[in-house]
Amino acid sequence: MSQPTPIHGVYLSDSHDLDAIYGAALRAAGTDVILHQPEAVQDPDQIAFALCWVPGPQAFAPYPNLRLAMSIGAGVDALLGHPGLPEGAAIARVRDPHQADLMAGFALHEVLRDERGFDDMAADQRAARWDPAPMRAPASVKVAVLGHGTMGRAVAKGLSALGFDTHVACRSTPEAPLEGVSYRTGATGMQDAARGAAYLINVLPLTAATENVLNADLFACLAPGARLIQIGRGEHLVEGDLMAALDSGQLAGATLDVFRQEPLPADHTYWADARLRITPHVASDTLPDVVATQVIETARALRDGAPLAYGIDRARGY
Ligand code: GLV
Repeated sequence: MSQPTPIHGVYLSDSHDLDAIYGAALRAAGTDVILHQPEAVQDPDQIAFALCWVPGPQAFAPYPNLRLAMSIGAGVDALLGHPGLPEGAAIARVRDPHQADLMAGFALHEVLRDERGFDDMAADQRAARWDPAPMRAPASVKVAVLGHGTMGRAVAKGLSALGFDTHVACRSTPEAPLEGVSYRTGATGMQDAARGAAYLINVLPLTAATENVLNADLFACLAPGARLIQIGRGEHLVEGDLMAALDSGQLAGATLDVFRQEPLPADHTYWADARLRITPHVASDTLPDVVATQVIETARALRDGAPLAYGIDRARGY
């Protein structure tokens, strides 16, 4: 039997050593898909695709025959907005069901942490204080979720399974709506989902239409003393509006996992702000085995002229 023609790709990231993270899984998953570190590329003309996480401004320039840029994560914002990515190149991303479960676990943890007062109980334990807090029925607690892609759906499913009054803002009512979840669509969908909510969870993709959506107008819709769980992208959040909402008490606190600048600089005021819980972009991640399988499948489809199952719509932005 003849061997399949190899297809060559390059790792492009300003922040991560992608070969160290994914190389072993990729090599185990398929020998006809060969990935190179940029400095090891001998023939740039041969490079048909790039595997990316925040590629540098000139990263694509050496590769004239590049036809695909694939993100190792769910988000493709760093590719969509990249001025050096050839217009005709396809964009693909990983769609990892485990990542959605991780995301849901993180979001639910942050909701329950406040709803059930776990931080207060930890302080009580340190003070040897027995002080049971009152509790509310989850069905009486409105939670708004922005976004209903793979991540948003998993978050909404988890919240609704725990009995929370779950409202999702999304572009259109999903083909397979989740039982017990309310969907808010259209121009006022986010405001409608947020109105009176005790928690606001953001899992939107970053596009031109979703930049700065976490702003004063949206915070004003929430119940006073609500909490923001920001696990989308830093650019969704208007930082001044967050501070104003915290100062006025409209927001009691926020969990911030993503930032306009990552890593968050050590001298940033967020670190010392007791109203914030800061985590280092860990709400979820793709797993190397899943990344490897989907990259190999995508590279082979590119080579064979088949449809790209993990491709995104460049005009829509996800
Ligand atoms: C994580 O942020 C991802 O895009 O997968």
